[in-house]
Amino acid sequence: MMHRLSLCALAAAALALAGPARAADDAAIKDKLAACFSCHGDNGLSTLDGVPSIAAQPELFLEWQLVFFRTGRVKSEIMQPVAAELSDDDIRAIGSYLATLPPIKTSPPPDDAPAMTEVGGKLAAGRNCGNCHGEGFHGQQGAARIAGQREDVLLKALHDYKEGRRFGTGVAAMPEVAMELDDDQMKALAHYMSRQR
Ligand code: HEC
Ligand code: HEC
Repeated sequence: MMHRLSLCALAAAALALAGPARAADDAAIKDKLAACFSCHGDNGLSTLDGVPSIAAQPELFLEWQLVFFRTGRVKSEIMQPVAAELSDDDIRAIGSYLATLPPIKTSPPPDDAPAMTEVGGKLAAGRNCGNCHGEGFHGQQGAARIAGQREDVLLKALHDYKEGRRFGTGVAAMPEVAMELDDDQMKALAHYMSRQR
């Protein structure tokens, strides 16, 4: 119940952020995005260790992450200065643009750890990751698309929540989830999610 409530609160807060018409200048935003893609990969699909794919994420998730970096609520020496340069309008325009880009389509590489995939799949079902992360784990509202995200990124995120480096939105949904996971379970979940499409 609490979880549903938190998503409602999330949606309400979203309205405040997504409110006014998007007046952003397309060309200026494309310029900014070119800089983002130098790290986050062509069209937001990352090929670099430690750098998340940002294409096809829910608009709200993207906007909030950028605000979290800008305010220092989430610490990142790399993203903090980047986000500091973005106005609220930039963040809205970037969020709405990135959300429309296609997700990763290429099949995952041959599975080097099918037993882990199986454990991860069972955990994902048992822990109801899909309740918040949506159909196929494709993300919704403030909850990220985790299907097809880089394995190293997923694993780091789970550790960041568990170890108190990242808090997320509303009533600490992810820290609560991650607190219940041990290292092997996190590895299995990251492996499994990275292979979903
Ligand atoms: C110099 C490389 C670099 C540049 C340039 C860069 N990023 Fe990032 N970005 C990162 C890294 C690394 C992370 C992961 C931070 C962490 O987890 O500590 C990240 C994280 C993010 C996240 C969080 C994604 C998630 O799934 O948690 C978003 C959103 C994001 N960046 C958007 C942008 C946007 C928009 C721009 C351009 C305005 C941009 N980034 C420019 C390296 C970069
Ligand atoms: C109660 C709702 C809820 C449940 C259940 C949930 N999540 Fe999340 N998850 C979220 C929200 C909201 C975020 C965004 C938090 C933030 O802003 O950092 C998130 C973010 C994440 C991220 C970070 C993604 C990124 O790109 O930065 C990962 C990884 C993740 N969740 C994995 C999982 C896994 C695996 C499960 C199941 C074991 C799960 N989540 C269950 C709500 C949930």
